[in-house]
Amino acid sequence: MEEVGKSDESSPFMEVITTTATAMNTIYPLAKLPLDFARILKSLLVFSTLGVAFLVLYYASSNNYGEFLPTLGRFSFTVYDVNGTIKDEYYELRKVLEAASTKEKTVILTSLNEAWAEPNSMFDIFLKSFRVGNNTAPLVDHLLAIAVDEKAYLRCKKLISHCYFLKTKQSSQMANEARFMTPIYLNMMWERLAFLQTVLKLGYNFIFTDTDVMWFRNPIPHFTPSSDFQTSCDRFNGNQFDIRNPPNNGFLFVRSNKRTIKFYKFWVSSRQTYPSLHEQDVFNRIKNGTYVRKLGVKFRFLDTNYFGGFCQKSRDFNKVCTMHANCCTGLDRKIADLNTTLEVWKTYLSSNNYTSPQPSNWMVPKQCHM
Ligand SMILES: *[C@@H]1O[C@H](CO)[C@@H](O)[C@H](O)[C@H]1NC(C)=O
Ligand SMILES: *[C@@H]1O[C@H](CO)[C@@H](O)[C@H](O)[C@H]1NC(C)=O
Ligand SMILES: *[C@@H]1O[C@H](CO)[C@@H](O)[C@H](O)[C@H]1NC(C)=O
Ligand SMILES: *[C@@H]1O[C@H](CO)[C@@H](O)[C@H](O)[C@H]1NC(C)=O
Ligand SMILES: *[C@@H]1O[C@H](CO)[C@@H](O)[C@H](O)[C@H]1NC(C)=O
Repeated sequence: MEEVGKSDESSPFMEVITTTATAMNTIYPLAKLPLDFARILKSLLVFSTLGVAFLVLYYASSNNYGEFLPTLGRFSFTVYDVNGTIKDEYYELRKVLEAASTKEKTVILTSLNEAWAEPNSMFDIFLKSFRVGNNTAPLVDHLLAIAVDEKAYLRCKKLISHCYFLKTKQSSQMANEARFMTPIYLNMMWERLAFLQTVLKLGYNFIFTDTDVMWFRNPIPHFTPSSDFQTSCDRFNGNQFDIRNPPNNGFLFVRSNKRTIKFYKFWVSSRQTYPSLHEQDVFNRIKNGTYVRKLGVKFRFLDTNYFGGFCQKSRDFNKVCTMHANCCTGLDRKIADLNTTLEVWKTYLSSNNYTSPQPSNWMVPKQCHM
């Protein structure tokens, strides 16, 4: 028992590291063949797999304008499964990302705990917004929910196609609503940030959305190709490139590239510099620092008219893509007010009046009076 618990805890990801021989066994059921023939075939297969691996290595190490990098010296070779997915410590994660990804290698990520995943709680309202939004239903095929405890994972599996259990040291404690700024809450936020860095490293762009963000329209056409990190704001000052905009990273789009991978690495490591701060506040401390400016990460701040929230609501129904229950604490209050926004949205859609600008009256925040 002890041993199992220990090895589970040692890694945040469910690791699958398989040797070539066992990988081949699962693909070709050798046991059915006569023993000697099976042995010969098996060594041939291992041999040819090694050959392929070396070819891949040779290609990978020599395609840098003819520069030959000493990759072979470390003698690490890549193993693939039948579908061509790399079998390393991120195998399970690679598989779910591949399944959820769009053709452009973008996934929509949200994170879930037990309280938020319960029936009639936040996850249900979140999914409902995709159904009542304008052409947002197909986006659920690209939604990957990151469950931080087992109950959230099981409920997720019942509702959508792509779920991943991010097992962390806090998993057992995170089941209930982790209160804002408690140590458990902070750890959860930082682990999530490290997880997002891994997603970028594996080559996927992501839209991260808090589960208390309603999706009324597809946001993807609003992301510009020239920006690396596009985040929603609590309040928007009118200039999309002004880093003084107060960001809200509860909704953001990040492209996977060298700059963003290094930026996330630095952001995660900055926890040591600011141990008592929330990852969002740390972002604000580092965003205009020497290191980040030298990296050249291209930040863009999204207009609240398109990506609004309770802090600053979209003023035009014809433009709004998302509505975030920010500037609000308490799960029940968020649920009540978001539920109201869904009703208001449905009324707007059924009005069939989309030509002139539609000034919005969201009727909230009501419970979230702040
Ligand atoms: C390979 O892909 C097929 C079809 O998507 C899937 O059913 C199967 O489980 C995959 N195999 C592995 C080992 O992931
Ligand atoms: C809904 O989406 C369709 C297709 O993307 C678009 O033609 C239509 O104008 C949209 N309606 C509203 C109300 O946004
Ligand atoms: C960012 O840092 C540069 C260099 O220190 C400074 O000139 C600039 O005013 C800063 N911008 C903001 C918005 O703080
Ligand atoms: C959401 O609103 C609908 C319609 O007004 C109502 O029937 C339902 O009970 C509400 N759900 C919650 C969780 O408040
Ligand atoms: C359509 O919207 C405009 C602007 O809000 C409003 O003046 C007009 O009365 C609406 N038309 C209908 C038929 O609701």
